[in-house]
Amino acid sequence: MKKVITYGTYDLLHHGHIALLKRAKALGDYLIVGVTADGFDKERGKLNVSQSLAERIENVRQTGIADQIIVEEYEGQKISDIQKYGVDIFTVGSDWVGQFDYLSEYCQVVYLPRTRGISSTVLRASAKPCIKMGILGVEGMAERFYNASKVISGMEMAAVFDEDPQKLMKFCRGKGKMAPMESETQLFTECDAVFINSSPALHHQQILAALDAGCHVICNPPMFLSIKAAGECYAKADEKELVLFEGIKTLYFPAFEHLLLLVKSGRIGTVKDIDVSCSQVPEDMDVVSKDKYKGSFYDWGPTALLPIIKTYETECVDCQLINFETDDFSYFTRGLLRYPNATAAVRLGKGMKVEGELIITGTKGYLYVPAPWWKPEYFEIRSEDLRNVKKYFYSYEGDGLRYMIYSFLHIVNDSERVPLHTRAEVLRTTRLLEKFNEGQYTTLEM
Ligand code: CTP
Repeated sequence: MKKVITYGTYDLLHHGHIALLKRAKALGDYLIVGVTADGFDKERGKLNVSQSLAERIENVRQTGIADQIIVEEYEGQKISDIQKYGVDIFTVGSDWVGQFDYLSEYCQVVYLPRTRGISSTVLRASAKPCIKMGILGVEGMAERFYNASKVISGMEMAAVFDEDPQKLMKFCRGKGKMAPMESETQLFTECDAVFINSSPALHHQQILAALDAGCHVICNPPMFLSIKAAGECYAKADEKELVLFEGIKTLYFPAFEHLLLLVKSGRIGTVKDIDVSCSQVPEDMDVVSKDKYKGSFYDWGPTALLPIIKTYETECVDCQLINFETDDFSYFTRGLLRYPNATAAVRLGKGMKVEGELIITGTKGYLYVPAPWWKPEYFEIRSEDLRNVKKYFYSYEGDGLRYMIYSFLHIVNDSERVPLHTRAEVLRTTRLLEKFNEGQYTTLEM
């Protein structure tokens, strides 16, 4: 008996899939179909799948073509499946030509003709209304945000505005559908959602204007510099029934989501201390150091506070900050935070380099994430018995930004969905930023 195996996502099963399955079956006597697990799709950066694994399996089952259906859960599984099931032929559509030649060491590899003019991507695009997305401010993250959006269906990058006309035109070059706008107001009117990518000092007014114009907002951190601004913006979002989302990308990395769950589940006991460090020495430090909002605490604070705010679900009772600064620009902030029954320490550098690691210390053990912890791929849980180190490996696609944009879009499309970053958490960070913004810290000259 000749065994054939093929793999796919089979989202919104269409006649292209069915033709492929029939051709695959015709290559032998027994067809095994591997359907990708949701987590595996997420890890390999395929974030636009609209049906669940159970639905996709059921669709394949109903074709009656597959003799056996299995789930593909991790990279490298194909080799083990081929060996485990005694497969003679591996096959996929011609869109993959060359990519699975390495399997010819284990069985015959056949690329079958793909059906023209149909794909899940096309079906998904026509199924959902497309969110028109705009960008306000072309510096910093704008380019990366634009690139990450390309792999997410259900949204199109439509318009952009920047106060500097030259920078605006330069940004639009080579970006087909991206239209340069003449004003902020025009941007908000043209779009369904906007990425506010400006200086934190401008966020408050820009967020209110965007919400007033009916735009959902995703904003660069720190979203707010004061509790008053936060209150006004959230009230406006509620009144208009729009999403207001602080875009801290670390929170949406698969590894970070998992480590938070492990900590919450008591894996390291009761958490008593968190030690977080982040730093960057930008190439254009001369330019950066002219903008106080790009300094250590403003720039790194929201990210660094994330594991602390997420783990300790209460207000900080005391916060001591020491800041190295020159002309209002902070190069390094050392902070000690006291919670009712726990502590945390932060070291944040801009123009100063520290080891960017995260250590969450509990009564049973500690969780260690090596540098750069804010783009986590790997972490360990360690305890007294040093031989008993548990290691966790993950991967992410691109620079990780797509996971954050995807979460934003999910909330925009489904108002019942609970955001990963709650308002209470944003407010707890804002309280600390407000303190800093009011100058409540000790200063050392740089
Ligand atoms: N396939 C095909 N003809 C099509 C679409 C898909 O032969 N028009 C094949 C693929 O080559 C693959 C299998 O069907 O071997 C499963 O593909 P999958 O990635 O699930 O489908 P796509 O429609 O290509 O999905 P997407 O648009 O998300 O990439």
